Amino acid sequence: MAPDTPGRQTQETLSNLLQETRRFDPPADLAAQANVKADAYEEAAADRLKFWEQAAERLDWAERWHTVLEWNPPFAKWFLGGKLNVAYNCVDRHVEAGKGDKVAYYWEGEPEGHSRVITYADLQREVNKTANALLELGVRKGDRVAIYLPMIPELPISMLACARIGAIHSVVFGGFSASALEGRIKDADAKIVITADGGFRRGKPNALKPTVDEALANCPGVERVVVVKRTGEDVPFGEKDIWWHDLVDRQSDKHEAEPHDAEDPLYILYTSGTTGKPKGILHTTGGYLTQVAWTHWAVFDLKPETDIYWCTADIGWVTGHSYIVYGPLANGATSVIYEGTPDTPHRGRFWEIVQKYKVTICYTAPTAIRTFMKWGDDIPAKFDMSSLRVLGSVGEPINPEAYVWYREHIGGNRCPVVDTWWQTETGAIMITPLPGVTSAKPGAAMRPLPGIVADVVDDTGQSVPNGGGGFLVIKEPWPSMLRTIWGDDQRYIDTYWSRFPGMYFPGDGAKKDEDGDLWLLGRVDDVMLVSGHNISTTEVESALVSHPKVAEAAVVGATDPVTGQAIVAFVILRGDAGEGPELAKDLRDHVAKTLGPIAKPRQILVVPELPKTRSGKIMRRLLRDVAENRSLGDVTTLTDSSVMDLIKQKLPTAK
Ligand code: WT7
Repeated sequence: MAPDTPGRQTQETLSNLLQETRRFDPPADLAAQANVKADAYEEAAADRLKFWEQAAERLDWAERWHTVLEWNPPFAKWFLGGKLNVAYNCVDRHVEAGKGDKVAYYWEGEPEGHSRVITYADLQREVNKTANALLELGVRKGDRVAIYLPMIPELPISMLACARIGAIHSVVFGGFSASALEGRIKDADAKIVITADGGFRRGKPNALKPTVDEALANCPGVERVVVVKRTGEDVPFGEKDIWWHDLVDRQSDKHEAEPHDAEDPLYILYTSGTTGKPKGILHTTGGYLTQVAWTHWAVFDLKPETDIYWCTADIGWVTGHSYIVYGPLANGATSVIYEGTPDTPHRGRFWEIVQKYKVTICYTAPTAIRTFMKWGDDIPAKFDMSSLRVLGSVGEPINPEAYVWYREHIGGNRCPVVDTWWQTETGAIMITPLPGVTSAKPGAAMRPLPGIVADVVDDTGQSVPNGGGGFLVIKEPWPSMLRTIWGDDQRYIDTYWSRFPGMYFPGDGAKKDEDGDLWLLGRVDDVMLVSGHNISTTEVESALVSHPKVAEAAVVGATDPVTGQAIVAFVILRGDAGEGPELAKDLRDHVAKTLGPIAKPRQILVVPELPKTRSGKIMRRLLRDVAENRSLGDVTTLTDSSVMDLIKQKLPTAK
């Protein structure tokens, strides 16, 4: 995200989200038993550092820290002098506490029947063997290991093995292209790559190894490639390659975990900016594990002995790092990992998994929820999902309609929904309701967690009053914050700490409602300026999705000679909705009624799909190119580049 695109101060934004009056109180029984109660906010406000020290005490430290926080803005060091081993905290300590037989992961492969049950004792043996294997290959503390794997158990095992020996992992999402992989391997200067022959995707084997070979043609620094056999398909095998089973299976399953400094690097994870090369976000050991473990326990009200937790993200994204691997394991939770897509072999697969494992906590993304809405209410209705008790959402603002649908059709109107705001850079959840405390408003992330100091400021960095809008900022350092951009401190300063001096600027617009609760409005570069009014794409999209015929919407501002920018909306209709000539007018009127005439889209285009990045974010930049009749820019990060052809074909007929 470019820090220099603030748009105008958003006081004038329209107020449909603020007109949302539905409230959902925490269920009484959940509130009574909740891990975190309302007093946590006051406690943390009274002594923030003490609050985080208490959170850190939930982990096992080989040596206690002498300094909680050393803050040389914008460079933070947390729990200085402390030593711990992340893998020990995530695995060994549970086995030592007599929980070796407890399930760490129920792994569900995409092809039905491919499943594995992995206990904490199993995980300990596998991680130790893999750590020994990496040592045999010459990997040492501080070395970088690139991991390019599908959603199979070897992925968390590889991450934990790196953490155990102090090697820095850089997981690259298995859907990325050879050039994306190459760029990430080079930037981190990785010496080992861990990959697989392939994975299963939409019912078919999907090869990975050839992509690695293509990337490595230009990466002479890589010494060895470890290859997991997953699909069994033939793959090219060269001199540097070694099969995982040939290397790992013969290793000792004993390995003594050495403690690492709290500030030793744990991993690099690349996140793409709107411009320039991807940024290698660097996370470290003690503060990161403290905040992911505490938030996973607090935000999902995790009861490790009884809950079955499922986060549907890919481990290749930060959501998977923090809330499939490190947070749940640090808490000794039992999780589900699913390899495939939600529509394989049928559109009820997710709910079948919930039913099969009696999942109690489900954490997914608005883009998935809107897809399920589009597929129809009757699909989840076929499954027994009475085990569910807490639902989570992450990745983008959740439209109130999607929130309410999720609550009703997945959560049976019984489960609180937590809308969790955070970023790759923040490492862990920052702004969210608490399921046992907050009277939640659909579409609002509500309040910063205890220990987090966030605010909404205007153009000049002044806090806006309740009812006002502007830019989200974080005003104090937090334990799981990124420490820098790998190899580029200056870019770290410029990107996050320069727009508002002394404050972290995540790049998101936000509003404070009359109660002081926070509503996230998307990236500030997604704010449109129409006839001098700031209108956020999220607001118009939410208004469109609240129309019964609309399943999904993406809105962009296109240059307009009269109004500066004009609103162009791309909509996907619900399964049974017909496209008739009245539709565009209906939708435009509906937006005008919900938001005010100023927000009426100039154009409504009905499309079959929307262009999304592999992490599920709509690529508005491409839609702007379409809306402004430009040739398309870079489409390489799209999940499916043919989507843009489908959209362009619709253009001449759509109105
Ligand atoms: C951006 C970060 C956090 C893990 C997944 C995405 C948007 C994320 C929410 C939310 C409104 C949200 C923000 C943020 N975002 N969660 N609950 N409400 N917006 O990580 O790829 O680093 O993206 O996602 O715009 O800045 P990421």
